[in-house]
This record gives sequence, structure tokens and C-alpha cells, in this order.
Amino acid sequence: MSHDAVASFAPGRVNLIGEHTDYNQGLALPFAISRGVTVRARATGGEHILARALDRGEHDEFALAEPKRAAGWRAYVRGVVAELSRAGYLLVGAELEIDSDLQQGAGLSSSAALEVALSLALLALAGESEIERVGLAELCSRVESDWVGAHTGMLDQLASLYGAPGMAIRIDFQTFEIEPVPLRLEEGWRLITLDSGERHANADTAYNERRVECSEACKLLGVDSLRQASWDVLEELPERLRRRARHVLGENERVDDTVAALRAGDLFAVGRLLNASHASLRDQYEVSTPAVEATVERLLDAGAAGARIVGGGFGGHVLGLLEPSACPPEGTRDVCADVGAHLLKPNHDANSK
Ligand code: GLA
Repeated sequence: MSHDAVASFAPGRVNLIGEHTDYNQGLALPFAISRGVTVRARATGGEHILARALDRGEHDEFALAEPKRAAGWRAYVRGVVAELSRAGYLLVGAELEIDSDLQQGAGLSSSAALEVALSLALLALAGESEIERVGLAELCSRVESDWVGAHTGMLDQLASLYGAPGMAIRIDFQTFEIEPVPLRLEEGWRLITLDSGERHANADTAYNERRVECSEACKLLGVDSLRQASWDVLEELPERLRRRARHVLGENERVDDTVAALRAGDLFAVGRLLNASHASLRDQYEVSTPAVEATVERLLDAGAAGARIVGGGFGGHVLGLLEPSACPPEGTRDVCADVGAHLLKPNHDANSK
């Protein structure tokens, strides 16, 4: 059944652990957070899309049949419309209002939240309610690579689409098996984020360069992805590629160690794994910056059991796991695992997801 007016919400995510593993067919353990993107959509009966970005005070209008290339936030809207149509969905002309309480380029996946919220709203207007979510995540990640130029994996979109209250999700990017893992914090423990103040765009060369380095490593090792590589063969690689591959293999192991530590209720072990992940991202994968290091230090000095950069790197937020005795520095925000992307009830207040 199609609707005249719908609203959707898609959350950002924090990745507990498993960074830069998604495009290497590896493992990750993200959770959806309560902040995200809300899209209100109204069918117009016309042949155009009119999109208003309320948080920026900007708008865009383009023909539904043939969206042309654009830059910035407009690339996401046009890309989603074009890719959904290309996938065979019969979209209808609409007015879209986009609102977000996620900072951009801050490592909390504002782009995926935008793509997913737009997709759910446009599909609902077109009368498509049963969508296969892994396929939709893949379509949204195509928008990132083909329309925005960021050759990202599917971590952010899957986290936004499959997040659930109180759950992290273990994603296996080889099989796309998705397993909820209870994210239980004992009394007094907190997960928090602290902004490094530095911003990044995944379309910037450094992120894409890491991807290229991983495929070069695969070529040299004769494997399809680093998931098929074992520790002993890494010695064959040139030094830089060996460090990249070491990070990926180690990070996959840390994901399962974290799942085991969570199941055992051993939060100190989770903290140590977060620290090990950060050290590897800094030293092997080289995606940290002085501002991020200073932020990690602030959290550790405040008594965090573990702290690490989240997302693509080169700035953005740091995640900290605080034990009850820790005294969080100014500017920290609590994060908890919240509901995944969904349609909102008619006349729903965007502030009460
Ligand atoms: C960004 C990308 C994801 C993933 C992370 C790093 O968030 O969008 O696909 O690669 O970086 O884990």
C-alpha cells in the first residue's frame, strides 16, 4: 500500500570494535545510537524531488527520472533516488524534509543514516514496505562509492538498519550473517564518546588509499580478501602492506574476543581490547591524528578502562568505556545501543523516536 505522507528515522552508529574490516570481508561489532536522521516525505503527484535540508537551511530540486550529479549532501539524495530507481523501484515525485542531530564527518555515520532514512521514506511512499535489508545496505553503500566517491564498506548501513535496543550486532562481512550480542554494562559502567574536534570525509584520499592498499596485499597474496589470509603468509608482504594486513587480521580476532568478553561480563577485558584496537589503528593502519591521540589520552587519564577512535579515522569521535570510578572529562556524551532504522508513526514527534 502506498502512502501520501510518511516519515522515517535512521540512526548513526558507534562501532564498538572491528574497524576497517568491513571491506576486507572481516568482522565488526557496531551498535545503533539514539541520534540520527529523520526524513518526512510527502507525495506531490509530480515528476520532481524537492529536498530541504532543515539542519543546513538548504534545498535541492531535480527530476525524478534522471538525477544529475551534485556535491555535498545533495549527492546522497540524488544518489539514493537514482540507485533505488535503477534497482527497479517505481518512486514517486515527493517533497522531502531532512533533519539530523548527528554531526557530519564525526565518525558516527551521518552519511549512512541519511541514505537509509531517505531510502525507507521513498520506498514507503512508493508502497514498498518489505525490503530486504542487506540488499538495501548494499544499494546505499553504492551511493557512497558511485555518487560521493567514498569507497566505504557496508558497516554503517548495516548497523543503522539492524541496530536494536541493548544490542551490539556482530556482522560477518563474508557471509552477511548478523548476530545480536547483548551489550550489558554493569552498574556504574558507561560507554561515552568524546569529540576530537577534527572532521574528515571518507571521500578524502586517505580512506580510499587504505582500501587500495588492502587490495594490493590481496593481489600479492593471491587471495580474494584478507579474510582468507593467515598470519604466517603476511611475512611475504612489503612492510607497509604487512602492517595494514596485520591490523585487519588482528582486528577480526579482537571482535570475537570482545564478543566472548561481553558474554562473560568481563568489561575490563573489553577495555583492554578497545585499547589494543586503537593501538593497531594508530600504529599499523595509521588512521589516527594528534587531536585524536590527545582525546584518547584525556579519556585514559580520566580512568577509562579503554578508549579508541571510531569510524573511518583521521578525526571524529573517540569511544571510551568508563568504569564506575572514572571521572569523565567535559564534553563526553553517553551512548547506548538503540533501535535501528524504521518508519515513524504518522504525526510522530521527531524528538521521541
Ligand atoms: C567508515 C566507512 C565504513 C568502515 C569504517 C571503518 O565508517 O563508512 O564502511 O570502513 O569507516 O571501519
